[in-house]
Amino acid sequence: MSPIKSLLALMLLLPMTLSAAVRPEFAALDAMPTSGTLVIPLRAEGDLPAALPAALRGELESAISAASFKAKAGKSLKVFAAAGYDQVQLIGLGADAITATALQNFGGSAASTGAERISILWQEDSNGVSTPAAHIAFGVTLGAYAFDKYKKSSKKEDASPDPRVVIYSAAPDASSAAWLSDWSGVAEAVYFTRDLINEPANVIYPESFVTRTREAFSGLDNVSVKALDVRQMEKLGMGALLGVGMGSQRPPRLLVVSYRGGPKNQAPLAFVGKGVTFDTGGISLKNPKGMWRMKYDMSGAAAVTGTVLALAKRGAPVNAVAIAPLVENMPSQMAQRPGDIRTTMSGKTIEVLNTDAEGRLILSDAVWYAQKEFSPSVMVDVATLTGSVKVALGTTYAGLFSRQDGLANQLVLAGAESGEEVWRLPLHADFRKAIKSDIADIKNVVEGGSGGASVGAEVIGSFVEPDTQWAHLDIAGKAWGFKAEPTAPKGAVGWGVRLLNQFVMDNYEAQP
Ligand code: BES
Ligand code: MN
Ligand code: ZN
Repeated sequence: MSPIKSLLALMLLLPMTLSAAVRPEFAALDAMPTSGTLVIPLRAEGDLPAALPAALRGELESAISAASFKAKAGKSLKVFAAAGYDQVQLIGLGADAITATALQNFGGSAASTGAERISILWQEDSNGVSTPAAHIAFGVTLGAYAFDKYKKSSKKEDASPDPRVVIYSAAPDASSAAWLSDWSGVAEAVYFTRDLINEPANVIYPESFVTRTREAFSGLDNVSVKALDVRQMEKLGMGALLGVGMGSQRPPRLLVVSYRGGPKNQAPLAFVGKGVTFDTGGISLKNPKGMWRMKYDMSGAAAVTGTVLALAKRGAPVNAVAIAPLVENMPSQMAQRPGDIRTTMSGKTIEVLNTDAEGRLILSDAVWYAQKEFSPSVMVDVATLTGSVKVALGTTYAGLFSRQDGLANQLVLAGAESGEEVWRLPLHADFRKAIKSDIADIKNVVEGGSGGASVGAEVIGSFVEPDTQWAHLDIAGKAWGFKAEPTAPKGAVGWGVRLLNQFVMDNYEAQP
């Protein structure tokens, strides 16, 4: 490689740091600038904040009435050259009560003004949400994400010391502290997760996934990153995981990231994520239409790794482990065939009737390993497992499966609070019966295909001991955004990091 080429290759490998990309800052209302680009939230059309200079207020009132602007949530009105400002953008908040997610969505909409530098004015009643400006900063940062490293024209890293976004509010110091301690690390973890997912499968495969993870965790306290290779997995008897990996030249890995922020002997929370770096279907080959998107079949692995990254970055007082079986599901001479029988680490055998139902195979070994190795206090697996969950829940909710009502409710609540919502679907003895195999212990699919999301969940559940607190999240409908949302551009959403971070915050971090 020429020196120039290798420099370029190195630049592609360097993870982008978020603080340099957005750098939200906080300031008091009376420091608000009188020029540049200003973004103002509006509860209702007539509700301009008191802090506005009189000249600007007059111009905005005329613009609102001339455009018949209604302050519906997410709707915006741009007013150019108003009272000394280059641009003033009004963004509707909607009439509903202000929540953390409404603030984040507002921040996300503000981030898409297109201006290089923006000032955001927050002078609304925050309905008891503490540090509203920190939530706005979180939304701004999530909304400003872009995956443009492969574009020749991609903008140079902004070298100016000026912040890109300043939020003016009544309590800048408390918001700045909350942003730095609680939310900036989560935003960085979401960026990490999105980058891994957006990367094509010729760049992110099992080994490079591990390398990226090591880079992201390097320098953080109380973390260890290890990866089991094929030999180690063979020794443990992970026949189901290894069977899926057989068709690919790129060998599988089992990634294990532990973070110890809690008491030494406290059982960890385990997050297990499906990491199929590309899913062709294997010998049960998928239809080519949209197959390229199956690079996102490692979204569960990226989300659980990102969750532990978020916990480590904000120094959460918990022990947690992310476990990610990483494989590429390819058809080849060496690939497993429909009808093959594999012995799992648990000793149970699985008849692989369809090589495209591979997520449940790799997870059966991964959840077993998680239980044997860590005896976790709770185990949540995250997987782009089935097309069926999209049929059931669309792109609104992720599917939630659990045998424990308490755990299920905690996840539903964390979903509502974080904006990453889940809807519970059934596990049932009928599905468990349906996956009995004629010649092995279980089979990986049921002919006929009804209740597919529950069947998939039940296969994983066959490897979960009855006393393990366990939930399964099927995120096939959530992990990829087909259109931009305020806090997520098109493509990888990084879904799950915000939910699981919230779940940990709410249930495992005792308030002082
Ligand atoms: N990765 C897919 C599920 C998927 C489909 C994720 C669409 C995202 C979007 C999974 O491995 C798969 O192929 N599932 C099959 C299972 C079937 C063979 C029982 C499916 O859903 O069709
Ligand atoms: Mn598949
Ligand atoms: Zn898959």
